[in-house]
Parts: sequence; structure tokens; C-alpha cells
Amino acid sequence: MEQSESHLFSPLRIRGVVFRNRIAVSPMCQYSSDDGFANDWHLVHLGSRAVGGAALVMVEASAVEARGRITPGDHGIWKDEHIGPLARIVDFMRGQGAVAGIQLAHAGRKASTHVPWEKGGAFLPENEGGWRPVAPSPLPFRDTDAPPLALSKSEISGIVEAFAAAARRALTAGFQAIEIHGAHGYLINEFLSPLSNHRSDEYGGSFENRTRFAIEVTEAIRGVWPGSLPLFIRISASDWVEGGWTIDDSVKLVRLLQPLGVDLVDCSSGGLVPHAKIQPAPGYQVPFAERIRRETGALTGAVGMITEPRQADGIIREGRADIVLLAREFLRDPYFPLHAAGELGAEAAPPVQYKRAF
Ligand SMILES: Cc1cc2nc3c(=O)[nH]c(=O)nc-3n(C[C@H](O)[C@H](O)[C@H](O)COP(=O)(O)O)c2cc1C
Repeated sequence: MEQSESHLFSPLRIRGVVFRNRIAVSPMCQYSSDDGFANDWHLVHLGSRAVGGAALVMVEASAVEARGRITPGDHGIWKDEHIGPLARIVDFMRGQGAVAGIQLAHAGRKASTHVPWEKGGAFLPENEGGWRPVAPSPLPFRDTDAPPLALSKSEISGIVEAFAAAARRALTAGFQAIEIHGAHGYLINEFLSPLSNHRSDEYGGSFENRTRFAIEVTEAIRGVWPGSLPLFIRISASDWVEGGWTIDDSVKLVRLLQPLGVDLVDCSSGGLVPHAKIQPAPGYQVPFAERIRRETGALTGAVGMITEPRQADGIIREGRADIVLLAREFLRDPYFPLHAAGELGAEAAPPVQYKRAF
């Protein structure tokens, strides 16, 4: 394995943005918005993690149109009114030395469900406040869901435009990084995978056709997102299902996205179909980040059951990824980076108000 000079607390520069270390808060839906608006919950939740020393705090999957929400409580960025409350949060996070990022998303056929803590996140029918999801093909995620409406070509163009409009709003709000949500069985992933995309037009069939939507979204966002600011994409590097999207496909996709200005590939997996056989274990998705990094030269992010400072540091030192993204560990410990610095003998940089504790 490659040994590099980099470690968990080395800064990383991407385009004009410097990340103070390699630790990112992975995007995490809070299902706590009303009509897509960020509120005090988001300020405290995201703000605490910026105070805790994360280099990058990524705002949760943010719907680029209302029907692209997973639940009615999802955060969104589909109208200009969403900008104001976000700008306040971004301002705070940046004031704490974190890079403020936002994940732009469309849930596709996995839209219109209850929040996870109600009815187990079951499908939310139209007569109970839900809506009809849209997808590449009229194939439901679960047999119990209403089949989604297949998108027409003009509707696809409309969604591409919605991603660009959302990116413009993110810029106005002061965000410094965007992550395209191309993972977990949501709309972009649904176009990529042959299991959910049965179209016979230029958006389905061949690899070239199935990747067209992801490419158009990337181009549209890069068209409005300044060259000085980083663009990430999260992918499901594998569907973990026979006949589905594979890590080989991911490598090919990344090679198409690099010239379009994607800077970092956040390597997750799964979520496309409920019956995938996944055996999560510490660092189980790191090999995806490692392979994509090695074979494409793209910067990568590793995510999934990364919970220990030494484990995280090893991933960076061994050149397996350029950043690590932590989700649940950050829910347990908003100050993970400060604690990790202590454990690894790196210099922790707590806010002045907290200096006496670290
Ligand atoms: C509460 C919660 C909400 C999540 N929401 C999102 C999301 O908005 N976007 C996304 O790409 N992944 C989401 N995820 C997945 C995480 O970002 C992460 O990839 C996954 O939890 C594995 O990392 P971990 O083992 O550190 O938790 C969510 C995970 C959790 C626990």
C-alpha cells in the first residue's frame, strides 16, 4: 500500500478551498424541515459539528424539487426562500473554520415515505399527504409502493435544470462545496443501474445511455458552480446485486465525470434494491474509494463504519482515500475531530471558548 505524507490532520486543498483536515460530516437527513426549510435544529446540529473541528460539514440530502423529497420532512433547496435560513447556518459554520457543503438530491422512486421513526418509513400514499414519485421506469422500490411515473424527456430536462437552479441557490447561500447525490438508489442512481432503468430511449439501455442523466446533471451544475469551488459526487459504487451496477461501472463513470469538473468521488454503496446482500463491517466500503482513486487518479472519500481515529488516519496515510466521511459516529460525538487529534497527538484547534477543555 502507498504510504504518503498525508495524514488525518493534514490540510487538503481542492481548487480554491482549503480543508483544515481530512474529516467530513457525512450528509445525514434530519427529516426535520417544514416545506423544505432549514431551522434551528439544523443550525445546532450542523453548527455543533463545525465547532467540533470537522473540516467539511455536508448538509443533508437537499431536494432540488418538492417531489424529490424522501419524506415531507426533508430539507430542500427548490425555491429562493430556502436561501435565507441556510445562509445563517453557512455563516456560522464558516465562522468556525469548517467548509460548508450541501448535498443536492432527488429521491426518484424512493420519494414519498413516512419519516423513518413513523410506520417504519413505509410508503406515504397520496391520500395521506404523500405524492406520486417519478423515476426512469415505472418500477417500484418495494412491492408495497405505488409504482412511480416514468419521466418524459422534457421532465428529465426540467430536473436537470432544477439541479442547476439549486446549485445557484447554494452559491448565494455561501456554500463552498456541492455534492451531487448519485447514490443509495435515488434518482441519479436509478438511471445508472440496469435494475431500475428499463428505458428504451437515449436515457436507458447501454452504459452510455444510463450515464447520460448523471452527466447532464454534472454539466448543468458545473455550468453555474464557480471554477474556484469543489464539486463532489456520491455514488453507490456497487448495487451488491447480480446483474446490477458494479465497481467496474463506477470506474468507467468516474472517468467520464473527471473531465466535467468533478473533483472528488464519495464512495458509498447499495440502496438501489431492498434485497441486496450487504455485510457492513468496519471500513467495508473503503476498497471502493481505494480502487477508484488508484485507477482514475480522482480524489476519493471513504465512508461507512469509520469510527476510530487510528482507523481513519490509516485510510489517509495508506493513500486509500483523500478524506473520510463519518455519519453515525458524528451523531455520537460531535467533537470527534477534537478527540481524534488528542488521541493521535495532532494539534486540536477547539474554539477559544473551549480551549481549557482540550
Ligand atoms: C440519520 C442518517 C441520515 C442519512 N442521510 C443521508 C443523506 O442525506 N445523504 C446520504 O448520502 N447519506 C445519508 N446517510 C448515510 C450516511 O451519510 C453514511 O453514508 C452511512 O451512515 C454510513 O456511514 P457511518 O457508518 O459513518 O454511519 C444517512 C445516514 C444516517 C445514519
